[in-house]
Amino acid sequence: MNIIVLEDFDALSEQAAQMVEEQITKNSHAVLGLSTGSTPLGLYEYLIKGFKAGKTTYQNVTAFNLDEYLGLEKDHPNSYHTFMNERLINHIDIKQENTYIPNGVSASMEQECKHYEELLDTLGPIDLQILGIGTNGHIGFNEPGTSPLSTTHIVNLDETTRESNARFFKSNEEIPKHAITMGISSILKSRQIVVLAAGEKKAHVVKKLLSKEVHESFPASWLWHHDNVTLLVDHEAYQLVGN
Ligand code: GLP
Repeated sequence: MNIIVLEDFDALSEQAAQMVEEQITKNSHAVLGLSTGSTPLGLYEYLIKGFKAGKTTYQNVTAFNLDEYLGLEKDHPNSYHTFMNERLINHIDIKQENTYIPNGVSASMEQECKHYEELLDTLGPIDLQILGIGTNGHIGFNEPGTSPLSTTHIVNLDETTRESNARFFKSNEEIPKHAITMGISSILKSRQIVVLAAGEKKAHVVKKLLSKEVHESFPASWLWHHDNVTLLVDHEAYQLVGN
């Protein structure tokens, strides 16, 4: 794992954007893996800025998202479809039909999982996957205990995950209890993975990740089984390393 410690969230976001833009400059048909949460928001702002400045075109780019809540319609304000449209997709020239996000309201979720994995196999592999880390070490919505062999599947969200994401919902009852997510093995098929960790609240998970102990109870630790991972971490999230 390549570890790059950056001054702050802004520097981390700019560095991540540079890596994405370099990938697209190298290969205009690149397949990106995108994620949600607060951490990639700065990256998306830089990508939009770069696009508006004429640096990058996404006309031939394909993008896959990691996950979606179960039971939220695509146009629900808290769906990851809405998040991605508002935060990135609507502001760049990527073709809507080349953006893939699991459907959380499919009549057959089992079929949807199979279909999403087939899409990844047909259109992938993902050239560059952007990942955040949950405060319990989850990647995508692969909660502690998920098998490293998992492909796209349905998960029960941990209470800690629901609490972390509560800020986006009006009431606790509204926070979904289930989600669909790419599995750990689907994520590890990506050619390159860039993990973003920023802020004090990620200091514990960064310390744990960098202990290099690989265990099912800490899903992000499976990243040690991949040979092209870069961790971009800011000072605040790195502060416990070595202590
Ligand atoms: C959600 C997403 C993850 C993301 C995590 C961290 O649970 N499913 O993909 O990494 O949030 O979110 P944040 O960046 O807001 O800390």
